[in-house]
Amino acid sequence: MNPYDKLLDEARGRPFACIVGWPVEHSRSPALHGFWLKQHDIDGHYGRLPVEPKRPALEALVAFLKRTPNARGCNLTLPHKIDIMPLLDRIHPTARHIGAVNTVIKQPDGSLEGRNSDGFGFLEALKQGAPDWRADAGPAVVLGAGGAARAIVATLVEAGVPELRLANRTQATAIDLGVAFTPNDGRRIAIERWVERDAALKEATLLVNTTSLGMKGSPPLDLDLGCLPRVAVVNDIVYVPLETGLLAAARARGHRCIDGLDMLLHQGRLGFQAWFGQEVSVSAEQRRAVASDLGA
Ligand code: ATR
Repeated sequence: MNPYDKLLDEARGRPFACIVGWPVEHSRSPALHGFWLKQHDIDGHYGRLPVEPKRPALEALVAFLKRTPNARGCNLTLPHKIDIMPLLDRIHPTARHIGAVNTVIKQPDGSLEGRNSDGFGFLEALKQGAPDWRADAGPAVVLGAGGAARAIVATLVEAGVPELRLANRTQATAIDLGVAFTPNDGRRIAIERWVERDAALKEATLLVNTTSLGMKGSPPLDLDLGCLPRVAVVNDIVYVPLETGLLAAARARGHRCIDGLDMLLHQGRLGFQAWFGQEVSVSAEQRRAVASDLGA
């Protein structure tokens, strides 16, 4: 059965959304949205839709979302987050600023709006995990300069961090990101050398790892936390495994730690609320359900 028919078959006429990617089998989005559907007794569906990374395939997706009355929208994962943008009717200013869309919401008039909830998810996870962390308290250090880093840097700048330090293995990418997101109010994005990342932790109040280092199948992140003040919050957006080497080391030093699963769960709220009209929150029970699905 073709994937569109399969999805329609599963939805059985109920309102639905889906995760779109290539590949998409390993996505945890169905588990996290499925939890909320069940928790709130909503007669809806959240499925998976493999879509090839080709423009005609993305055009077919857009046409499908528009012509299917019970389609409410979708999430997008790799490699579609940028290529979908010109095909949508409207891009929310936050998504435009970040330069990527991970959530598509069908409007009452049938048009499609692209949004980005990664920054929202990151900040909500931070607020929930470290309620007394204050953006204006001191420098934030971000490791990595890929797609996730763009959303996080944009969000931290908007949240008001006085200084952001960015270190990436490929320094040119960090410089591009620094240029794109430096605000015009005098605050700085300092580009730190990757080999000097340990020293960049001095006086920081937040450390975020957005690289894939520490992820299952990737090398560990080699970082000496010795310079990091104990009050700093440590956030690793990797979620397989949940407890990365970075978080284990930070926990042992007494830092407050936030893992990548929290960002994943919180970013889902924005789409869910728009598609199914229900406010949702992230709970320990949902974390357990999705973590067990991760085999964590
Ligand atoms: P995402 O969209 O999840 O951010 P990405 O765009 O592929 O993923 O970014 C991966 C990040 O991990 C990049 O910052 C990458 O650094 P480069 O820009 O130098 O590629 C970083 N990364 C991946 N493998 C790394 C390694 N072995 N050492 C250091 N950084 C690494």
